[in-house]
Amino acid sequence: MSDGTDNHDQAPGSSLWPIGFAIGIACILVGLVISWPAAVLGAAVTIVFGVLWIRDAARSHAPVDSAPAHALVDGTPSEAQLAAEEQHLETYGRAGFLTLATIGLGGVIGAGVVLPSLGFAVLPSFTGEGIETNPVDLGPISNFPEGTFVITSFTGSKRQGDVSRRTAYIRNNGLSAEKEPSFTIIYSRCVHLGCPIQPNGPAFKDQAKTYKDVTLTPVKPAGFGCPCHGGAYDTEGNRTAGPPVRSLDRYAFSVADGNLILGDHFSVGTVAGTAADAVMTRYPVAYPGVHVDGIERFLYPLPVPGAGA
Ligand code: FES
Repeated sequence: MSDGTDNHDQAPGSSLWPIGFAIGIACILVGLVISWPAAVLGAAVTIVFGVLWIRDAARSHAPVDSAPAHALVDGTPSEAQLAAEEQHLETYGRAGFLTLATIGLGGVIGAGVVLPSLGFAVLPSFTGEGIETNPVDLGPISNFPEGTFVITSFTGSKRQGDVSRRTAYIRNNGLSAEKEPSFTIIYSRCVHLGCPIQPNGPAFKDQAKTYKDVTLTPVKPAGFGCPCHGGAYDTEGNRTAGPPVRSLDRYAFSVADGNLILGDHFSVGTVAGTAADAVMTRYPVAYPGVHVDGIERFLYPLPVPGAGA
């Protein structure tokens, strides 16, 4: 039987919102590693469940603003009712404050953990960190004998210095059918997990040349091999054996004042034809292990965690 006082339970009721909130945080952290859409989805889930959690917590401590029905008979609450209401309001203040302070403190701690991680992950996209500064002048095209591959090492970004050193295997194909200079420029990163590939054939170090900080060493490969897991490619970069999922990445090029200028880096599915007659579709740079064409690109849409671009 009711004694006229508010017996509203001050302890928060059980709620699923914190579980949803935690799942959202987990999605953000996993998404930062494997997929931006997953991180965005996690952020949305976190915000929605966080708001619901806070609203639920606030409601569970909300004061009853109407007096008990029987107290309105003569419009004047009894002393006991006033005392009970005063106690209720007092309890609301302390319990509500502690609940909201706990959630707020958790939010501050969570922000302290997540924001620096987000900063390190996102800021480089806006400051240009990690982006190679192409084009790169590789020197006179006379340094690239026709029909011969040249191991070409160069600095991708002057600002980043030696950490941006890259290697490309460059073959001068002579003139194309349109009478334009043709070069095959293959990037040395294996498209399985990113190990450096090696030319399968002798290198002629006694014929090596340099141009500024570019080193040029002729080589006669029968193909390219990866020492990590046995990936193998032909001289057009097509996979011939092992676990790689596509052909080797390439660089675009141009010729300016008789010099070969390295252009954008791009990914390739399959190369048809050879040398100046090679035909391929150019895709945006993809992580190693990622299919860029065929049905597989839908079946395996996520990059391999830890495989650098
Ligand atoms: S990284 Fe080249 S085969 Fe695995």
